[in-house]
Amino acid sequence: MAFDRSIKIAPSILSADFANFGLECEAIEAEGADWVHIDVMDGHFVPNITFGPATCAAIRPHIKTVMDVHLMIAPVDPYIEAFSQAGADIITAHVEAGPHIHRTLQAIRGTGAKAGVALNPGTDLDRVDYLLDMVDLVCIMTVNPGFGGQKFIHSQVEKVRKLRAMIGDRPIHIEIDGGVTPETAPLVVEAGADVLVAGSAVFKGGCVSNPAPYGENIRAIRGALG
Ligand code: DX5
Ligand code: ZN
Repeated sequence: MAFDRSIKIAPSILSADFANFGLECEAIEAEGADWVHIDVMDGHFVPNITFGPATCAAIRPHIKTVMDVHLMIAPVDPYIEAFSQAGADIITAHVEAGPHIHRTLQAIRGTGAKAGVALNPGTDLDRVDYLLDMVDLVCIMTVNPGFGGQKFIHSQVEKVRKLRAMIGDRPIHIEIDGGVTPETAPLVVEAGADVLVAGSAVFKGGCVSNPAPYGENIRAIRGALG
């Protein structure tokens, strides 16, 4: 997985048909997804529950691109090995999930996976100042994590711009997660983001037996970037 700053669309399977994850992953890749974003929620760090490492392992053979696993769980450390074993290419943990994010990121890289760190909308960028040399991705949450289909929080665009300046030449992706649509995507790309997670905006109107809308929705986001 060589580093590049081209724009990548990462559909979140949080908006997919939960009874058909394998087919849904194949469909979104066939329709132009660059990465597949997997939202893991525990009902504790966030007020919603999705699934764990066993489901990720079951999905893995259906993903040819990049399996981007976003952990919205606390604690994180006891489960890192299991998500790595499940085949995650990137494992992202939240700075707010515990007192030892530095140790968590070391543990993620220790498994051979790429390490990501996520910030909630209310969390300041200074929390990642001393982590930038040990991460491959910073995820800026543009909604409060827990649910798909929420409204984009515009104050985060400035945060992306500041993060882009902090990163400089370092090979670190800036990922945006939440409320990404053809209207909001250009704002964050202009500010410096290169990975756009999109759940509802990609999956709306389609299903595994009619996946063409997924492609139309992905192209609508790309097209809006000019
Ligand atoms: C929110 C999740 C997001 C979510 C995005 O907690 O991390 O990945 O699925 O969904 P949309 O694109 O619908 O805002
Ligand atoms: Zn996510």
